Amino acid sequence: MKRILLPLFVTLCVLAGVAQAQQAGSAAPPAPPPVQGQNAGAASDTAKPSPAGSTSGQSPGAAPTAQGSAAGGTAGMAWYDQLAARPKDTSTNFWLPKAVNQESDESDMMFYAILALNIFFFLGITIAVVYFTWKYRARPGHKAQPSAGHNDALEITWTVIPTIIVVFLFYFGWRAYIRVVTPPQKAVEVNVLAWRWAWEFKHANGVTDNNLHVPVNTPVRLVMTSKDVLHSFYIPVMRVKQDLVPRRYTYAWFYATKPGTYQMYCAEYCGTNHSQMKPAVVVHEPGGYERYLNDKAAESSNMPPVELGKMLYEKKGCNACHTVDGTARVGPTWATKDWGKPITMSDGKTVTMDENYVRESILSPLAKARPGYPPSMPSFEGQLKQKEIDGLIAYIKSLKQ
Ligand code: CUA
Repeated sequence: MKRILLPLFVTLCVLAGVAQAQQAGSAAPPAPPPVQGQNAGAASDTAKPSPAGSTSGQSPGAAPTAQGSAAGGTAGMAWYDQLAARPKDTSTNFWLPKAVNQESDESDMMFYAILALNIFFFLGITIAVVYFTWKYRARPGHKAQPSAGHNDALEITWTVIPTIIVVFLFYFGWRAYIRVVTPPQKAVEVNVLAWRWAWEFKHANGVTDNNLHVPVNTPVRLVMTSKDVLHSFYIPVMRVKQDLVPRRYTYAWFYATKPGTYQMYCAEYCGTNHSQMKPAVVVHEPGGYERYLNDKAAESSNMPPVELGKMLYEKKGCNACHTVDGTARVGPTWATKDWGKPITMSDGKTVTMDENYVRESILSPLAKARPGYPPSMPSFEGQLKQKEIDGLIAYIKSLKQ
């Protein structure tokens, strides 16, 4: 038996070493997709051009060739939206995407330690079972031996060694858990709101966005809640996953170590467009986050109502349920022939489709239901300024067929 277990253990150690080496070897990440060329142009046609040189700061060393897939529809986009639209950084190692959260080292170590233990015991036990089954099989001329009664040394060994292992696992797991649930006092705070099927990230100066923008080398604390059902905030490269629960706040935090654009997901099945709840996480170069807050705040201040409405249509996630091309989705299309005309509700009553109807449908969506559409829209009460409601109404009117 010893002759089998020892080589097995050595093999596993070697395998673990290979996995670690792969992890280290893949540390050289692909150069961040360049956006410089686009930035320079776009930054000037949004709000105020920022101090010279700061746009290029986003992707140092990158060649000015932004004609990738990312460049496709980015013309005219604000520089920060271009960053969000870049292809996601996907540098991976053998098992997991390379972590960019300072706090993730310990949880990664735990993951690999437990995985290695699992493989070791799975193989060890399986091989022992197969070996003994073969060794003591019934065969002609072979007499069954009486079972061994007791072996103190063996029993103490297989009690003490696993105990030591689980105590170590508990200690490191507990230590990592305490760090995960205890954000530092001085952290940038972002409010996260989720609903079916969009995210909204609200920053300290009131700026909201449907992509998450954060500074590099700074702890970021997320205060999160949901408008309707359970959603789950998940950024694989940060190793951060936390449920969002209606009528209560939950928290998460991370400390991003590398600027770039990463993928975030909703990790809790929440209905039809669950898989579309995947915004970008933009980790800004030093200074970039502050510039984002300023430029973003300036963006919506003097927009014509129709444009403001069009922007909100995307930013507030209206586009998850309403089309602007006349086709029905989860909700009725906004490109309607019915503007100004009476329409019939599912209770048989008739309502004129006008400004009042649209306003009520935004603030109290369940007050009136259209036949054929499930009453599933969340209320936007308290989340839209009067100006923004006017913008949405103007945009819907502009789509009239
Ligand atoms: Cu939200 Cu799945």
